[in-house]
Amino acid sequence: MTILFSNILTLETMDPNVRPESMERITSPELAKAFIDEQIAAVREQVGGNKVLLALSGGVDSSVVAALLIKAIGDQLVCVHVNHGLLRKGEPEQVVKVFKEELGANLIYVDAVDRFLDKLAGVDDPETKRKIIGKEFIDVFAEEASKLEGIKFLGQGTIYPDILESKDGIKAHHNVGGLPEGLDFELVEPIKLLYKDEVRVVGKALGLPDNMVYRQPFPGPGLGVRCTGAITRDRLEAVREADAIFREEIDKMNPTPWQYFVAIPDVKSTGIKDGKRYMGWAAVIRAVQTKDAVTAKSVEIPWATLCAIRDRIIAEVPGINRVLWDFSDKPVATIEWE
Ligand code: XMP
Repeated sequence: MTILFSNILTLETMDPNVRPESMERITSPELAKAFIDEQIAAVREQVGGNKVLLALSGGVDSSVVAALLIKAIGDQLVCVHVNHGLLRKGEPEQVVKVFKEELGANLIYVDAVDRFLDKLAGVDDPETKRKIIGKEFIDVFAEEASKLEGIKFLGQGTIYPDILESKDGIKAHHNVGGLPEGLDFELVEPIKLLYKDEVRVVGKALGLPDNMVYRQPFPGPGLGVRCTGAITRDRLEAVREADAIFREEIDKMNPTPWQYFVAIPDVKSTGIKDGKRYMGWAAVIRAVQTKDAVTAKSVEIPWATLCAIRDRIIAEVPGINRVLWDFSDKPVATIEWE
């Protein structure tokens, strides 16, 4: 089977940001492989002997772009992974393991945890938190870029819904036209005409691990939106640990819900431990099913699973004395607890 994605593109439309109607939906490893081969050739032609810089968060889109670019240009790709301290348990470690150790990427790991958390200290307004995280991320990335020489291109994990939503004015996506100021790069966006399901098929074909390819949606500001109010290190750690336990237990369900996570609001209540008063936070568990995240239904969790989750979170996570189940639907509740 031959499918010439880029040929279709030039024949049917002059706009490189419009997906041609005849472009086949990538649903199989064979179609993914054909797409990958084409993109490898296209990237090599675009980039030549130059270097490409890529912010690698560990999310599906940036991971797939990284794996594809490693195949296409090897050492000419420089990946930067910024650990802002708001990632889920084990995520920064997995990025290093998969990309540096297994795929041999040229990866710069930036431990910016203190820098982000210091800037966020005492800030309780959600929008201000988002702005601080976004600005700090760009600053850290630009600092790393300025240390490197000979970078001409910026790799980006833009996907087709990003382009469509930007066109419709729904959101100004950070991946579309949102280059950090002062960074004068040409973009390399090999998956910009793909839908999310196709990105996953391509990711599988590139050999990425399932927990990366089928990762749940995760907000850019990470656990920052699930640690409501002003973020403190102890409560952030409690969110991270409780979330890891919750996901581990829910992963035993079949099928697993679309999205499931823990949030910890900034509220303490009385408890009792070892015969003494134990002021603690309440961990809020949430599991939802949805098609597009515009509306969502709460997922039924069996009682035995709920009890196992409650017992583990209370026993294993310092600072928590209650577990609450948020089974509200969207609307009126949003999925996140921001
Ligand atoms: P809400 O809370 O609005 O969330 O019902 C809808 C979906 O969007 C995800 N979400 C984000 N995804 N960057 C993202 O890529 C973000 O900043 C962000 N904020 C929320 C959320 O997890 C849910 O799946």
